[in-house]
Amino acid sequence: MSRFVGFLTVAFLLALGFGTIEAAAPPHVAASSSLEAGKYLVVIAGCNHCHTQGWAATGGKVPQTAWLKGGHVPGPGGPPTPNLRAVAAGMSRTAFVAQFHAKQRPSAMPWVNLQHADTDLGAIYDFLRSLKT
Ligand code: HEC
Repeated sequence: MSRFVGFLTVAFLLALGFGTIEAAAPPHVAASSSLEAGKYLVVIAGCNHCHTQGWAATGGKVPQTAWLKGGHVPGPGGPPTPNLRAVAAGMSRTAFVAQFHAKQRPSAMPWVNLQHADTDLGAIYDFLRSLKT
């Protein structure tokens, strides 16, 4: 009987532990902070390619002070892209992440590619909020 109680206690503590880990799930990259992870992810996921004016044309030689303020999809007739600093400033972290699931419309914006990375999108949000609008 006491062994069974012990088993239940261990199972309960494990469930509690896993619950906690899931709630505070970090981004998939190792970084010193969520903000640093967000900065790295913005670069590697190509957000600047379309959302920073002149990024593609200069080979990425745009100072961080000018990142993600909106621009155009590179190439002839590329559609305009919104200012992501302003977008993030206008919504909660939860709403920012949720839109990547809600907006499945055909668009130059690669919505579908970003629907599997909620913890990473949260870090991107943190980075966007750290930039001045
Ligand atoms: C290939 C070009 C391209 C890339 C790369 C890209 N975007 Fe976009 N993005 C667009 C375009 C075009 C729109 C406007 C059309 C739309 O909303 O579907 C847009 C819209 C958005 C919006 C909607 C903003 C609003 O109006 O509410 C968000 C948020 C966004 N992008 C975030 C990102 C993030 C974060 C990344 C990097 C992980 C990224 N985008 C990479 C082209 C791109």
